[in-house]
Amino acid sequence: MLILNGSPNKKGHSMTLAGEIFDVENANVLHLYDMEIASCDDCKACQHNIGCKFGDDWVKIYEALQNEDTLVLVSPIYFGALTDTLLRALNRFQQVFAAKFTHKIKTPNVKNLYLVATCGADNSVMFEGVDITMTILKQLLNAENMHAFTLTNTDAAVAVADETIAQFRKTVKKNAED
Ligand SMILES: Cc1cc2nc3c(=O)[nH]c(=O)nc-3n(C[C@H](O)[C@H](O)[C@H](O)COP(=O)(O)O)c2cc1C
Repeated sequence: MLILNGSPNKKGHSMTLAGEIFDVENANVLHLYDMEIASCDDCKACQHNIGCKFGDDWVKIYEALQNEDTLVLVSPIYFGALTDTLLRALNRFQQVFAAKFTHKIKTPNVKNLYLVATCGADNSVMFEGVDITMTILKQLLNAENMHAFTLTNTDAAVAVADETIAQFRKTVKKNAED
């Protein structure tokens, strides 16, 4: 399991929720705020040649992905979207689109794609912006299963209901067994 933590708070609401759902201790966790990942500038180099001009930490994500069947994105909601740091890492998957569809080379797939996201407001509309991002990633990675585990109202610091966590875990278990 590869976990991409897009929260600046390693022990914040989003990673805490992830820890209640997944075996984070035994997962490969990459904290994106600790990594050097440049912004895609649409130079189109990856359309002409396989790969990217930036030789930075993004390659660690790509290498890790080759060995994992489950990818978990963890993020607080910032202005109705994933954090800029997580989005920056995702934008670099543009080179994977080029590799897959232009150069037609084999690119990594995952079986399960999950999002763990939290937001401060008591309003689940906050997660809607992320839906399309997840759908695009699902298609790119040929994910069989995709699920978003979300928690609203973190501003109120209310504990997550045990039944909610139990339901989340059930979904993960079912997908792992299928
Ligand atoms: C820059 C910024 C933008 C935010 N935008 C939103 C937002 O649009 N909607 C919302 O409900 N909460 C918003 N929040 C609150 C966070 O989503 C919320 O506190 C989250 O649970 C923090 O997770 P973390 O502890 O993993 O960092 C924002 C917080 C920050 C710092």
